[in-house]
Amino acid sequence: MSNETLGFYNRNAAAYAANEGAGNPRLFSFLRHCPPGGKVLELGTGAGVDAAAMIQAAFDLDATDGSSALAAIASERLGRTVRTMLFDQLDAKEAYDGVYACASLTHVPRSDLPRVIQRVHRALRHCGVAWANFKAGACEGTDALGRHYSYLSEQRLLDLWSEAAPWASIETEAWLGGAYDGKETRWLAVTAIR
Ligand SMILES: C[S@@+](CC[C@H](N)C(=O)[O-])C[C@H]1O[C@@H](n2cnc3c(N)ncnc32)[C@H](O)[C@@H]1O
Repeated sequence: MSNETLGFYNRNAAAYAANEGAGNPRLFSFLRHCPPGGKVLELGTGAGVDAAAMIQAAFDLDATDGSSALAAIASERLGRTVRTMLFDQLDAKEAYDGVYACASLTHVPRSDLPRVIQRVHRALRHCGVAWANFKAGACEGTDALGRHYSYLSEQRLLDLWSEAAPWASIETEAWLGGAYDGKETRWLAVTAIR
């Protein structure tokens, strides 16, 4: 996976944290699929805005990020340790009711995505839910800030997740929103139930 992307987040962690907005409003539709107080893994927690909301909502959160600088900032915010973990270090088996990845798996190179999706599937308990969003587009590439993105079409997103693992159900949605680079962004999200 791209060290340049993590290099960006490590070098710019304080600025990224200072620019984080109010959090993802779609977090709560993900949480509605999880049992009350359920165990949730967050991949790419950033500065911990959505993590704080999940803890506030009494979920048993395991927050992680590949950037040690952002994990430190999020640990400070949450008053608990945020683990520094790369997506391809996820080795958990049937451990979580939910896996939440807001604007994070979109950085995984397309050729690595199936293996990461398989890790997410394996980490979930029976009937557990995964939620992840991606920037829309036709190809993969590097943005003006030096971050790698797997830009996907909605159909490609659906195909990638469906082909990578045997989900019981899988849905996608799309919307226009903002992003850290200040650009209007078409986002695609997948909700997949094991
Ligand atoms: C756009 S930020 C999103 C942060 C937060 N979820 C949010 O919505 O604001 C992407 C996050 O993914 C993390 N990340 C990028 N590549 C990663 C990797 N290979 N393994 C783990 N985390 C990674 C970054 O450090 C960063 O915190």
